[in-house]
Amino acid sequence: MAPPLVSVVVPTYREAENIPSLAAGIDSALRGFCFSGGDGDGNGDGDDATVSSRYELIIADDDSGDGIADVCAELSRRFPLRLLSRKSERGLSQAVLAGAGIARGEVVVVMDADLSHPPEKIAELARPLLSGDADFAVGTRYAEGGGADKRWPLRRRMYSAVATAPAKFLIPLSDPMSGFFAFRRAQLPAAAELSPIGYKIGLELAVKMRPEKITEVPIFFRERERGESKLNWREKINYLRHLRRLFWHRWPRRMEVFQFCAVGGMGMTIDLAGYYFLRELGSPHLLARAAAFWPAASFNWFLNRVMTFKTRPRDSRLPQWLKFCATSGIGFVCNWGTYALLTSAVPFFAEHLLLAFFAGVLVGTVFNFVGSDRIVFRE
Ligand code: GDD
Ligand code: MN
Repeated sequence: MAPPLVSVVVPTYREAENIPSLAAGIDSALRGFCFSGGDGDGNGDGDDATVSSRYELIIADDDSGDGIADVCAELSRRFPLRLLSRKSERGLSQAVLAGAGIARGEVVVVMDADLSHPPEKIAELARPLLSGDADFAVGTRYAEGGGADKRWPLRRRMYSAVATAPAKFLIPLSDPMSGFFAFRRAQLPAAAELSPIGYKIGLELAVKMRPEKITEVPIFFRERERGESKLNWREKINYLRHLRRLFWHRWPRRMEVFQFCAVGGMGMTIDLAGYYFLRELGSPHLLARAAAFWPAASFNWFLNRVMTFKTRPRDSRLPQWLKFCATSGIGFVCNWGTYALLTSAVPFFAEHLLLAFFAGVLVGTVFNFVGSDRIVFRE
């Protein structure tokens, strides 16, 4: 038998009660599914074929223990349905990838089990992928003709808006959070290239696949009738970690600079705190200034070692720490020197000391970054 055209992959955790209506809905939407494929030149040379009614439904379950095996066994007599039961791991994204791993269809469509995503829209997602008009297709709540259940509380709408904004930098989707999306199976990136955590496997795949052509299909997102959402606080934290990873993937160099500056800002706070602390203890100000530098520099060195430049080769600690302190020391002199030079030689800065201060910080930071990048954490 020819392989299916469309594999619908549905991750499930404790959704047994939703599967019968889901399977029925998908079947009535895809049973008569037609796709006019072929070479698309329409010249009637016969290779434009019409293929119909070939889909499969894969339930990717994480050992829910809610009787899903029996439900699926029963349903598989009527529908082309397979149950993939993952015993040892849990996680929506991994379940989706495992499901896609056993899929045979040319196109994989991912959707939720709780009937939030309308099965009638599957064909609209799959068609442009089959015809080559799209490389990625997403069901969106935020386009003309789309929407979300009115029962959605204001709080959930707000979370959604806040979570969506940074993701839009990564990929131009109106609904980057969507769990209803489709792609060509042949374009699934190798497992090694994927590192999703949490819920947003659609975002992960879109960012890593870098689709040229994206189709958005407006959908109405219905609130679930049965069972409960598994989106908890842990998943929200996971999402932030995931976003961070994706930004690193997309703009590694910019993220290095950004992270270096963030660490630098924290270091400066520690520097100041140490300075005032020592002054409180009665230390002379020059001594306090000199002493506070070391804990701050050590803090920066450590965070840059384990975070900013974590992919760089790991030199032994002591020599690296010394090099970092040395470059930071010179960086500090540049910072201070810039301030001194500007305020004594340029009348404008003599009147705007704070601006000279920031200019110094800027010069020092650039010097420090180059020192860290080229010397301390050199590739
Ligand atoms: N296998 C497996 N393992 N499936 C899981 C797991 C898990 O650990 N956690 C959740 N699922 C399944 C659920 O059973 C459901 O089919 C689907 O993933 C979505 O889970 P819900 O708990 O219903 O998520 P939601 O309604 O809060 O979130 C949905 O809407 C969001 C948009 O607001 C999802 O589609 C999100 O991806 C989407 O961003
Ligand atoms: Mn849901």
